[in-house]
Amino acid sequence: MKAIVVTDQAAGEAGMKLVQRPEPRAAINDVVVEVHAAGFVNTELEWPSTWADRAFRDRTPSILGHELAGVVTALGYGTTGLSIGQRVFGLADWHRDGTLAEYVAMEARNLAPLPGDVDFTVGASLPISGLTAWQGLFQHGRLQAGQSVLAHGAAGAVGSMVTQLAREAGAYVIGSGRAADRQKALDFGANEFVDLDNDKLEEVGGVDLVFDVIGGDIQKRSAALIRAGGTLVTVVGPTDIRPADGLAIDFVVEADRGQLWEIVQRIRDGRLRTNIGKVSSLEDAVATFNSTERRAGKTVIRVRP
Ligand SMILES: NC(=O)c1ccc[n+]([C@@H]2O[C@H](COP(=O)([O-])OP(=O)(O)OC[C@H]3O[C@@H](n4cnc5c(N)ncnc54)[C@H](OP(=O)(O)O)[C@@H]3O)[C@@H](O)[C@H]2O)c1
Repeated sequence: MKAIVVTDQAAGEAGMKLVQRPEPRAAINDVVVEVHAAGFVNTELEWPSTWADRAFRDRTPSILGHELAGVVTALGYGTTGLSIGQRVFGLADWHRDGTLAEYVAMEARNLAPLPGDVDFTVGASLPISGLTAWQGLFQHGRLQAGQSVLAHGAAGAVGSMVTQLAREAGAYVIGSGRAADRQKALDFGANEFVDLDNDKLEEVGGVDLVFDVIGGDIQKRSAALIRAGGTLVTVVGPTDIRPADGLAIDFVVEADRGQLWEIVQRIRDGRLRTNIGKVSSLEDAVATFNSTERRAGKTVIRVRP
């Protein structure tokens, strides 16, 4: 089968190659999915799990991509809950071969059924950004109606989900980003917008929850805005930042069938809009990822037309 692999950590994105790989087989509790569309996060090349398995052994050549939508073609020993021919979408294990391929083997529990009226491209755009937003807001951030949220990168893949889900939950949302992103963030439902290059972040005032996707100095200055009892959740690496009287939580998104189902229901009834920037084919994927163009939302690779 065709797949996009990396073998050389030092080569960065220039080291991505479209090659032929053997089709995967389903292990215990796995399914094999015929991939129709796949997502990719460009920081994958920095994650240790791209290069080593859970026992820290070299796993190159590793197939990139960890989110997908497709159709189940085989069941492993003992696999229940999904059937052959079923449309699914979900989040593949960070330490196994991924979804930028014609087929992927992954645990069935990391997938949810994809309703027939949701396109594969849309399905593949949801798992990482949707689950990250959901888990950061509701599991880690324990967001309540009436609270205020500072949603960084609000026009980006994760931030646009954070903005919409927080608004739906009854929060007041201050989106942030580049000057050019103001209208897009407001269109996703932000009540107001902070242009991080030109406005003063400190003028936002106190907030209950900071959802950080930027890190560094922005993270540090945001922590200072958190009200007593509030929380900073970040997805961009360990932080030694502690809000004066609150929590700082650094987490990595996990697969969750129930949450995927909640997210896709919101797509169907219009409460949630996905944020797809570019759709490309598997043949053009390497060029797409290597492009220096600014990304405007999620890049989705359509593996089958
Ligand atoms: N730990 C986890 O589980 C997890 C899960 C999902 C994502 N992530 C990470 O979260 C980050 C965001 O992911 P994403 O998919 O949402 O990316 P994205 O679509 O590129 O969105 C990020 C947004 O933030 C903006 N931004 C970044 N730095 C900024 C700055 N200094 N000032 C103003 N705006 C800034 C970006 O604008 P520009 O493009 O102009 O910089 C972009 O609009 C990535 O680093 C990703 O690896 C982690």
